[in-house]
Amino acid sequence: MDLGIKDKNVLIVGASKGIGKSITIGFAQEGARITTIARSEDLLEQLNLKLKQIVDKDHTYYGADIMACDVNQLVNTIIKERGTFDIVVHNVGGSLVSRNYLGAFEEWQHALKFNAGAAIDMNKALIQPMIDKGWGRVIHISSISAQMLRGNPLYASAKAFLNAYVTTVGRSIASTGVVMSAVMPGAVAFEGSYWDTFTKTDPNRCEDFLRHHQAVGRFGTTNEIADVVLFMASEQASFMQAAIIPVAGANM
Ligand SMILES: NC(=O)c1ccc[n+]([C@@H]2O[C@H](COP(=O)([O-])OP(=O)(O)OC[C@H]3O[C@@H](n4cnc5c(N)ncnc54)[C@H](OP(=O)(O)O)[C@@H]3O)[C@@H](O)[C@H]2O)c1
Repeated sequence: MDLGIKDKNVLIVGASKGIGKSITIGFAQEGARITTIARSEDLLEQLNLKLKQIVDKDHTYYGADIMACDVNQLVNTIIKERGTFDIVVHNVGGSLVSRNYLGAFEEWQHALKFNAGAAIDMNKALIQPMIDKGWGRVIHISSISAQMLRGNPLYASAKAFLNAYVTTVGRSIASTGVVMSAVMPGAVAFEGSYWDTFTKTDPNRCEDFLRHHQAVGRFGTTNEIADVVLFMASEQASFMQAAIIPVAGANM
């Protein structure tokens, strides 16, 4: 199947490792022109070299901390240098940044910003040019926690808010040619990830977790998430407005 991604101008936020890295490599394999953002410039540089080997284009990267910098300024600079984007993937997020669910709202705000707010701020500058040209794909990486409302309360709530944003905004722009959507991964392991460490340090509890919470009986791989994201970025996703797709090994 030709996904129609070749030559598209793609921005991936949170590209240096894990799921975001696999998504980025997937876009290169489809022939896209890629811009990446993350904090680890060394990892982005290595990834950029790999992307150029896959497809010879002027891929580039920006080292930035989207929790600390002025993301409006960042995105406006990137658009000026790279042009308006056809496809944006918001992958930054996670459950480890905020833990104290009995703490003040500030604690919650942090989780909200990490998992949704920073991406929303970026969309302010990214989506209107897509609407103006009548085509775009904006894909957010949510979590099955948003649906199950289990695990870290701050994380689950922040991702649930993200899902509500994707549903409501995705509907509001549905007729413009811009498709906003999300995927909800289940537990995905890769080298150096939380689940990878957990498997090594506490294999019994890990097995117990999988038996009770992920019916497939194993962790997902980053490629299993990336392949779905690539489809959602494709021409074929033209009827997937506001779709929020679980890719979760029957998480329960
Ligand atoms: N892995 C899972 O089991 C799982 C399950 C469900 C949902 N998800 C969701 O999938 C997404 C990716 O998860 P992952 O496990 O692949 O996470 P990860 O390994 O922590 O990767 C996150 C990416 O975001 C970047 N990043 C983190 N903080 C940033 C910041 N402040 N500014 C700029 N970039 C930042 C990281 O790069 P730097 O460190 O270089 O900045 C990295 O490239 C997240 O939204 C997560 O909630 C993951």
